[in-house]
Amino acid sequence: MTTFQPKSVVILGALSGVARYIADGFAREGFAVALAGRDLEEMELLAADLRERHEVTCCCLKFDALDIDSHASFVQETTEALGALPGGVVACFGYMADQTEAQRDFALIRKTLDTNLTGAISILERFAAAFEERQSGFMAALSSVAGDRGRKANYFYGAAKAGLSAYLQGLRNRLHASGVKVTTIKPGFMDTPMTYGMDLPGALVAAPQSAAQAMTRAILKGKNVVYVPFFWRYIMWIIRSIPEWQFKKMSI
Ligand SMILES: NC(=O)c1ccc[n+]([C@@H]2O[C@H](COP(=O)([O-])OP(=O)(O)OC[C@H]3O[C@@H](n4cnc5c(N)ncnc54)[C@H](OP(=O)(O)O)[C@@H]3O)[C@@H](O)[C@H]2O)c1
Repeated sequence: MTTFQPKSVVILGALSGVARYIADGFAREGFAVALAGRDLEEMELLAADLRERHEVTCCCLKFDALDIDSHASFVQETTEALGALPGGVVACFGYMADQTEAQRDFALIRKTLDTNLTGAISILERFAAAFEERQSGFMAALSSVAGDRGRKANYFYGAAKAGLSAYLQGLRNRLHASGVKVTTIKPGFMDTPMTYGMDLPGALVAAPQSAAQAMTRAILKGKNVVYVPFFWRYIMWIIRSIPEWQFKKMSI
């Protein structure tokens, strides 16, 4: 039987603008952290910082959401690196292509779907199986408010995130009986490399530090669905309530 380390977490896409602070939040709570992403050298710098500031175990693992074949062995690699099956997993990776460019190039649409949806389902299913067998654990993924309603400005990304949200909803339903918590995180705009250079309404753009705090809190409380910041729940409620005949004429 695999041993279990309840106070440990794997952060997938650990170098994302917001994931860095999520990793910090877990380390602050005394969790051992496995950072997983594409750039080992950069992750080692983050790991050294977390070890020094929070005196926790922190290791780094190569992870590529698009390398589906590598996902089969990833849970085992994480278990070996942490010395035990981790308590939880948080999927932070994501990719958003320019919408207009993507409309002209199916490769970009495919990358959007493969990264945000197929890649996420592939790796989360691996952890789901291990946690379900163990009958405990927590899982979370960063979806997006973009998945709540399709908009002309980013509907490929929105379609992928809508799929991810539906997947997480079903996964939560499946894992409830085994005591595994599944948290869907729906951020609004955040000031990270993903939105760099975009013309966004400043008052609605969250700092990644505060967004990460809200996310970490929600995961630790085992929440089902959380909008970050909270007011996006109401914004999206209004946006979803606009009738389709009117919505299709709008540019929001
Ligand atoms: N920023 C926003 O306004 C916003 C709003 C709603 C939802 N989100 C979601 O929040 C999450 C975090 O995004 P962010 O805002 O922090 O953006 P970010 O700084 O651009 O981070 C995206 C991360 O995803 C990683 N990634 C991309 N493709 C990958 C792959 N194939 N395998 C592994 N990692 C991959 C990138 O890794 P590299 O460092 O190797 O490139 C990067 O670290 C994403 O899921 C995003 O969709 C963001």
